[in-house]
Parts: sequence; structure tokens; C-alpha cells
Amino acid sequence: MCGIVGYVGREDCVDILVDGLQKLEYRGYDSAGIAVIQNNQIVVKKTKGRLSDLTEKMKEEGRPKGFCGIGHTRWATHGEPSDINSHPHGNKRISIVHNGIIENYREIKEFLIAQGYGFESETDTETVAKLLDYYYEGDPVQTIINVIKEVRGAYALGIVFRDFPDKVFAVRKDSPLIVGTSENGNFIASDVPAILKYTRDYYLLEQNEIATLSADGVKFCDMYKNEIKKEIQTADWDLDAAEKGGYEHFMLKEINEQPTAIRTTISPRIVDGMPYLEESGMTKEMLKNYRRIFIVACGTAMHAGLVGKYVIEKMARVEVTVDIASEFRYRDPLIQKEDLVILISQSGETADTLAALKLAKERGATTMSVVNVKGSSIARESDIVVYTHAGPEISVASTKAYAVQLSIMYLLAFELAYAKGVISEEECRRLTKELENIPEKIEEILVLKERCQFIASRLVSSESLLYIGRGLDYALSMEGSLKLKEISYIHSESYAAGELKHGTISLITEDMPVIAVATQSDLFEKTLSNIKEVKARGAKVTMICREGTEDDKSVANHLVVLPNMDDVMMPMLALVPMQYIAYYTAVLKGCDVDKPRNLAKSVTVE
Ligand code: G6P
Repeated sequence: MCGIVGYVGREDCVDILVDGLQKLEYRGYDSAGIAVIQNNQIVVKKTKGRLSDLTEKMKEEGRPKGFCGIGHTRWATHGEPSDINSHPHGNKRISIVHNGIIENYREIKEFLIAQGYGFESETDTETVAKLLDYYYEGDPVQTIINVIKEVRGAYALGIVFRDFPDKVFAVRKDSPLIVGTSENGNFIASDVPAILKYTRDYYLLEQNEIATLSADGVKFCDMYKNEIKKEIQTADWDLDAAEKGGYEHFMLKEINEQPTAIRTTISPRIVDGMPYLEESGMTKEMLKNYRRIFIVACGTAMHAGLVGKYVIEKMARVEVTVDIASEFRYRDPLIQKEDLVILISQSGETADTLAALKLAKERGATTMSVVNVKGSSIARESDIVVYTHAGPEISVASTKAYAVQLSIMYLLAFELAYAKGVISEEECRRLTKELENIPEKIEEILVLKERCQFIASRLVSSESLLYIGRGLDYALSMEGSLKLKEISYIHSESYAAGELKHGTISLITEDMPVIAVATQSDLFEKTLSNIKEVKARGAKVTMICREGTEDDKSVANHLVVLPNMDDVMMPMLALVPMQYIAYYTAVLKGCDVDKPRNLAKSVTVE
């Protein structure tokens, strides 16, 4: 979703703004713009398209020069992507960039029209810009306070005033914004990677706190103008983590980073060979007393929850319900005080997941989040946080974040199973050791890329394909299918293999390839029968299976053979070929792998 950067300091701000916006490209966008204060005037450059289009436009029309400015990448919500709808919005004396949605913008617009204001764009943001202008009487902070008292919805705002040419102002509610600080100047940004090149020190802006940035420092105040002292945070991500480092795409780099990401995530949570989540505040005593577990998330994170459900139910015999956050928040779920609601989110900012968290809290349940971004909204609002340590994930299609989310699901399942007495200490140690072996096993699988590249070459001209699997393989294949469709634009569905013959098998022809995930030994024979059914109807089948089960080679056209582990651990291995297949198919199709069309990495609006 929209990305915001802002800078005021001793350096030319245009390079810093464009560079910061580039680091936020992963969020997804369709237009870009900047506002720079040059010789006490606000100069705006904005355009539909990519940052390269903005740079091109600045070459043609002249590049602004100044030490104070704001920048934006827009992911269209109100009004199509166009030059006019791009941010910044405002007039000669005020310019703003905005991430979020202003719910009551129509009312505000009508009011402002009655006051004689004209509007150019279809955006909700322009109404905020004009409302700021309406209230402005020389005191920017008071103006911002007046405006945020009137607007409803979510916003992160970066604002410059012509009369204050050496200051950037910022405020946020329900949309992310951080304030970076360095010797050479100060920054605002939607996310840490935008400022990592210049500083690792930043402040987290809380709801409706107003930041005033100048070259020499940052001041914060609340809605009553009381000054607030804030603690500085230090990013533990380094710049290399947000660079491609020789890989063709971030996605490929991130697939290859999975062993390290898993090690870094699990090692602090394994003490003396046993799972240990207590550092997060979740004691074994608490864990075993929950009546039910709900896992709520969106997209890939929700798929991690689905694997979590299978593993937790199987190991710990506790009922787990998995919900899509946008459904959960409106379905009046039967949550009670005795329940644990687990929110999974890479970004920690997904609007629907955040709303689900608030609902669970209102109903008195304990909330626990599994989040990758330190200090993000979901992390801050939940009772208990378990951070995953994947480092920054830049590719829109999530890979390493999924792997580390799974690893936390496993630790949780083992700890819970042991706490409830379902498994012995010995078994718990053995399983935990298996989890510790996963990174090494993934390293072995990463060399299968040529095999997956070849399989991708067989899929690339398909219009549609099916993933099938049973049990854990089914849960996992949902993610494989999502990966493929989001980056290669090939239509793909994941189906429970046993359900195929109740309708979907009618789609099978020789033009409908099937990828069968068959790693579960107790279900292998069953899945094999389903593979035979589709093969008999012409489908070309790729089978992802484990060593020892590949003997019946004739059953599939292509095989990917994985090392042997416990059934329950197999999803952690099988995810790699699925990611590779999606990646290479998208590469062969010439798709924009890291920034697929229409998608945003961090969905901060409903
Ligand atoms: C977006 C992204 C997905 C992601 C989902 C949830 O749709 O494109 O890749 O899985 O949001 O994001 P979260 O940050 O909450 O994990």
C-alpha cells in the first residue's frame, strides 16, 4: 500500500526521497510524487506509473532542489491511478502525502465546497489537504490538531507548509509511520527499509502524536500540545538485508535466506533442547488452559495458520479454528475469555488482522501475535508477541516470512502438546531436534532449483492448474497455489485430493496440469489413487514426494523428491519446491516477480 517518506536536513532531499520511495516499492504502487520546498515555494512533481516515470518527468520539467520535502508512492483506493490523483495534494501553501482511508471525506468535501474550495482529484486525501488549509492560521501543529479532530478513518500524514520551509510535520492513526533521526537530518517513513541507508535510529509514532521535524531534531506532542519524550528504537536490520545482494530478484534471495531466517527465529526459543516461548510472556501454564485457539490472518500468513491448525490439533489435541481476518471481524465469532486468539502477520500492519485483534480483545480473549516487524501496530496491541526474525521481506510474494511463521507454529504445537501431557518429554525433545534440523535440510533442497526450473518450463504456457493434496499437504498446497497465481498470473486452485471427484475433476484435461503434494505417509496411497484418476484423464502431473516413495515413477510425469523427515515436519521442506516452481514460472513468463500487478505487500486499508 502507499509508501511515505519525508526528509529535512543538510542534504539535497530529492535523492533521499526517491531512494526512500524505491525501498518502499515492495509495498505496491501505481503512481509516485514528491513535494520539495525550494526558495520558500512548494514544488510538486508527481505522475502515474513507476518511480522511473517520476525521475523521467523531473528530467524533462526540471528537478526541484531543496533540503526539506515529502514523497509518496500511491496504491489507488479512491480514484484511478492518474497524475491528478497522485500525491502530494494541496495548494501553494500546504502539501501532504497520505496513507490510509478517510472514511468521512464526502462530508468534509461538501463542507469545504460550501466554503468555496474547489477539488481536482477524486481522492479522499485532497479533502484533508484542503481542510488543513481551511484551519491554517499560522500554527501548523494547531492546524493538524483541528483536522485530526474532524477526520475519521486511518491516516499516516506527511505535511509541509510553505511558511515553515525547514520543517516536516507528521501524524498517524491506524496507519504505520516512523520517524528516523540522524546527524544529517531527520526522516519520516512508512517502514524501516526506507531510512536504513541513512540511520538505524528511529521513533515509533503513537496514535495521534504529532511530530515536528527540523534539520537539528524532532519534537513530539499530543493533541493538547503537551510535549512527549520518546524512546529511540534501533533497527536490527542492516542495509544489506534490504538489497538484492547479487540475486536477480528479492524473491529468489528470500527463498535462499530461509535456512538462516528459521535458525534465527527458533534458536532463542529452544532452551536445553525444549521449546521455550515463555520469554514472550506465554507460560506453559497459560498455554494449556485455553479452551480453544483461533488463528486469524490474511493471505500467506493465514496459510501458515492452516498448517498450524493441523499440527496443533494433531500433536496437542486442542481445537483450532483458522479464520481469514476480513471474515472473522464481521462474522460475530464465538470467542470467549478462555480462548487464545493468535494473529499472524509479517508486516504487523494488515488492517483486517488489526481489526480482528481489536475484536478479540474487546471480547476478553488473550491475544498473541506472531509478527515480523518490530514495534508494528499488531505487535504493540496484542497481549503477547512472538517476533519472527526473517529480516525485511521485500518481495511482495511472501516466502521466508511464511517459513518462519510455520516454525513458530511447530514450536507452539510441541510446547502445548508437552504442557498438556499428550507427548512425553523425550518425544518433545526429539521433535524439537527435528525442527532444528530443518534449516540444513532446506539447504539440501535449495539445490533442486534446476529441477523446478524444468517443471516451470512445462507449466509456463498453461492457463490454469490445480494443486492437490491431503491433510497437511492440502494445507501447504494452498500456499503453493497462491504463490503461483500471484506472481505468474496463471489461474491456480488448491483442492483437497479426496474432494476432486465431487465436481472439480470435470475440469481435468491434458491442458490442466496438476501438482500433487504427497509427503504424508499415512495418506500417500490415497493421494496416489487421486493422482492416477487425474492422470487417466490426461493431466500432466508433477508430484512432490519424499525419498522412498518415488519408486512408482510411472505415476507422475515429473517428480520432486524431498529428504525424509517425520510426516509432521514435511511441509517445512515441501514449501521450497512450490516457491521455486512459482518463481521460475513467473520468470519464464517475463512477469515482474517482486512487484506483481495490483498487489500490495502491506495492506493497511480494509
Ligand atoms: C498482502 C500480501 C500477502 C500477505 C498478506 C498478509 O496481501 O500481498 O503476501 O500474505 O497481505 O500480510 P501480513 O503482513 O499481515 O502477513
